[in-house]
Amino acid sequence: MSKSYEESRVPDRNPRNLPWWKKTAVYQIYPRSFMDSTGNGIGDISGIILKLDYLQDLGIETIWFSPFFSSPQADHGYDVSNYRNIAPEYGTMADCDRLIQEVHNRAMYVVFDMVLNHTSDKHPWFLESRSSQENPKRDWYIWRDGQKPGGKKPPTNWKAMVGGSGWHYDELTDQWYWAQFLPFQPDLNYRNPDVKREMFDTVRFWLDKGIDGFRLDIINTVFEDEELRNNPFAWRLFPSEDDDKSFFQNKIYTINHPDNFTFVKELRSVMDEYSDPERFLVGEITSSLETLKRYCGEAVSETQTNGLHLTFQFQALNASLDANTFRGIISKYEHYLAEPYMPTWVFSNHDQMRRISKLGNDMDKAKLNVTLQLTARGVPFIYYGEEIGMFNHRFPLKGAQDPVALKYSWLPQFLVNLLTRNGAFSLNRDECRTPMQWDSSANAGICAADMEPWLPVEPRYETINVESEESDPDSLLHCYKDLLRLRRKTPALHSGSINLLDHPTHKSLLTYERNHNEQTVQIWLNFSNRPIQTGEVMDSGALLFSTLRNSNPLQAASIYLEPYQGVVIETQTEGS
Ligand code: NOJ
Repeated sequence: MSKSYEESRVPDRNPRNLPWWKKTAVYQIYPRSFMDSTGNGIGDISGIILKLDYLQDLGIETIWFSPFFSSPQADHGYDVSNYRNIAPEYGTMADCDRLIQEVHNRAMYVVFDMVLNHTSDKHPWFLESRSSQENPKRDWYIWRDGQKPGGKKPPTNWKAMVGGSGWHYDELTDQWYWAQFLPFQPDLNYRNPDVKREMFDTVRFWLDKGIDGFRLDIINTVFEDEELRNNPFAWRLFPSEDDDKSFFQNKIYTINHPDNFTFVKELRSVMDEYSDPERFLVGEITSSLETLKRYCGEAVSETQTNGLHLTFQFQALNASLDANTFRGIISKYEHYLAEPYMPTWVFSNHDQMRRISKLGNDMDKAKLNVTLQLTARGVPFIYYGEEIGMFNHRFPLKGAQDPVALKYSWLPQFLVNLLTRNGAFSLNRDECRTPMQWDSSANAGICAADMEPWLPVEPRYETINVESEESDPDSLLHCYKDLLRLRRKTPALHSGSINLLDHPTHKSLLTYERNHNEQTVQIWLNFSNRPIQTGEVMDSGALLFSTLRNSNPLQAASIYLEPYQGVVIETQTEGS
């Protein structure tokens, strides 16, 4: 019998008493690809409910659902046409209520994906807004005249996040509307108090239903410059993990506008109206750590700030699997995001090439990677299928379901190769959104064998799937399970401080210590393809975890690590 939501709240003996959302591990579900219960090849809410026991057994504490609100699905849910209803292909409001209940019954938390920046162009608000300049909803979106003379040139040079002008001309009313992402995703105008009120009430609507947190889609783009100043030129085509200059623009007037920082604090106050449990916000923002910290606001207590609770750190997404790189990332996180701030660890999501495919589809490297993800200080975000090592599936841009890939499907292949550095990253988001691989039956068990899933299953599903990895104690899946359990029951891992340890003679070794009260846990990670005899004498340590089940790294009172091996050792016990 699983414990109830209430029973699961174990009293915290931490003198600092970290809030639950700082200690949790989050799993992202892309509903379309998770589990189909109706036989149409598209995952749905009832399908997800069927798999909640799997997630509970995996050791997941919090589930983030990519949007399943009403939507024409032009961007698979990131184009919402009703924020208070459910898209029929995913289920009904009753199914959604049941999902929330079923997750809570299993002592887990629910995070919804809030797309505040824009709606679908099929949202009734936008249909009204575009119908005439006098319509009461006109000012709910950002409409401007084109440049003089004639008005047939966009109001500013502002580029959309995905490239091209973000302004779109509407003949009916002879004005342009602004869309930060794709043309069918017009931006809402938060300078209009009715818009803000309506969207904050929508947030309350879901909080009243028991939602424990929100992931905020591109939350750094809510406001733009009111004076319509042009963005300056910048030498950069694509944004990087921590810099949003792109498409040859320094987007100072369209991204990270000063009003955004006030806006997130107002949103935080809405969240703070709710308690027991405390609710949280995690913002999707590509920016420097300094800016990310600014979005989290100022410290208001030992454990809390007054802005976003968390932001995604994308710094690790493309980091090479190398000790020095991660030593650098951890030190930067500790420099900018020490308590009461908290970093996050993100290696994959529904927009990115899967991490394992950046590691040569190598399971041993994936085990090392997740050992770092689940033992370094910060909240880990695990993308569905990452736990079994699902590979990216290569697809051409032509014929893609992903609207961003389609936008660029005219590119000749040699240019695609050049832009993606020969496949080092992906321009087609379908590649990381293929169906979850449950078993080796046709369609990997996501839907009936005679159906066609919405995207083809990754061909190696016959061996890389939940069922076969369940039965193999050496699988990546078991590695995730062991680590998630260990993290949950080890205060040093979920709440402790982190200290990097130096090993000048072993450049491929990354070692750090997590400390909480009297408990000390050390993490040793060998980032090379050669074994390492550290010479470190360790006679009192207890091995808590190893990526290699049958090796004993502590045997000779000194630590010996196999290639790509990671271990967790307790060197001091709480209460000792
Ligand atoms: C970011 C989301 O992660 C992505 O999937 C979506 O297409 C855009 N925002 C637009 O909402």
